[in-house]
Amino acid sequence: MAASRPSREPCIPAGPSIWRNSVSVSIHVENVVKKYGEVTIIPDLSVDIENGEFFTLLGPSGCGKTTLLRMIAGFNSIEAGKIRFDDEVINAIPAHKRNIGMVFQNYAIFPHLTVRKNVEYGLQFRELSKDEKTRRVEEMLKTVRIEEYQDRLPERLSGGQQQRVALARAIVVHPSVLLMDEPLSNLDAKLRVEMRGAIRDIQKKVGITTVYVTHDQEEALCISDRIAVMREGVIQQIDAPQVIYSRPSNIFVATFIGHSNLFKTTLAGQELRFTPDYAVNMGGHVRKDAPAGATVTGVRPEEFHLSESGRGLPARVVKTTFLGRYVNYELAFTTAGLLPDQAAIEFSQDIGTAKTIYQPGDMVYLEVNPEKINVFTTGGDTLMRDAKAGSVIRLATHTGHADVGRQGERADGTVSAGAGS
Ligand SMILES: Nc1ncnc2c1ncn2[C@@H]1O[C@H](COP(=O)(O)OP(=O)(O)OP(=O)(O)O)[C@@H](O)[C@H]1O
Ligand SMILES: [Mg+2]
Repeated sequence: MAASRPSREPCIPAGPSIWRNSVSVSIHVENVVKKYGEVTIIPDLSVDIENGEFFTLLGPSGCGKTTLLRMIAGFNSIEAGKIRFDDEVINAIPAHKRNIGMVFQNYAIFPHLTVRKNVEYGLQFRELSKDEKTRRVEEMLKTVRIEEYQDRLPERLSGGQQQRVALARAIVVHPSVLLMDEPLSNLDAKLRVEMRGAIRDIQKKVGITTVYVTHDQEEALCISDRIAVMREGVIQQIDAPQVIYSRPSNIFVATFIGHSNLFKTTLAGQELRFTPDYAVNMGGHVRKDAPAGATVTGVRPEEFHLSESGRGLPARVVKTTFLGRYVNYELAFTTAGLLPDQAAIEFSQDIGTAKTIYQPGDMVYLEVNPEKINVFTTGGDTLMRDAKAGSVIRLATHTGHADVGRQGERADGTVSAGAGS
């Protein structure tokens, strides 16, 4: 498991004054075990989540995401191990004393209370002056942009607006930790995209350590400082989104996040052979200690390019899908060895540079980009150099322009979370 932690810039920008006293904490999960009866759901899980971090648990249905979140919240027992908030072990602290804000997929707001009263509700048991309560509620209504609906009942709000109310109510109490379990899964696709941006912005503004659960990989990639990819209660990789995408630590991650075409290949030093006629030099991207022999290579659809020279891997176009900014081709390879049981073998062509759009039946010759592709053992583990030791995707060094998202690898090879944001 690669549990690398990128060097991070402080991710709490100067926000409204009420947040300066925020008591956000770091979360430390240490060798935690979860069992239901005889069944072990989480065998031994450890993770450190930084103060102010937006940390996402991502994985297929049933892998234990909600279970882990509920253990942090105090709704699930812990069979072994420890959970700490900063230095304090919280195993024995009941849920209502953990100072946690939670947002679920069913908004769980009161239908008979107005938006404002719903947000105020979170503060009713707090010992705060009336003025302080009013100030906090107003600040919150403004922060999540629901001021104009404050006197409405929830039934007159859209799903996205209702989820903003739920978010406001969860964070108005200044929790130490914000836990969100699939908060956007009841929304339609367009609203999900809008709301994930809003959640990200609000979280950065208030700076609360956030653990976010989703099985939507695109959502995870665009919203998170770091992602933990889980499978059957075991964390497979913890990294910044672009490292997870470009340097997956095993075949499960490579195929769960984005699409990877899997080829049977042979490695000898840095030479990676796809067919008797086609091999590439990996130029140092494969680990020096990688054993020679059979390997599996993951090639993402955008990591192929068309060969001008007729070199490369001959493939027949099976299906052409025009998607505006790019064209997606489903392919059948005539010579290359493919791992069986793959849903589809895909190549995507950027429309901005495409000279020809191919049709079903056309033959193309494809080459792979050795800097981008990933080589695994036949057992599935990566043979690539540590992402932080070599180039994956670089951020432009001048300010104001980043050629990847919020986070990326700097030209010196370090990964900077928060850069460009
Ligand atoms: N109260 C329970 N008793 C017994 N088994 C449970 C209980 N709650 C969850 N499980 C089991 O634990 C496993 C993990 O469940 P969990 O709800 O954490 O998955 P998840 O990753 O959140 O999935 P999803 O994406 O579908 O929400 C599943 O196999 C589930 O059936
Ligand atoms: Mg769940």
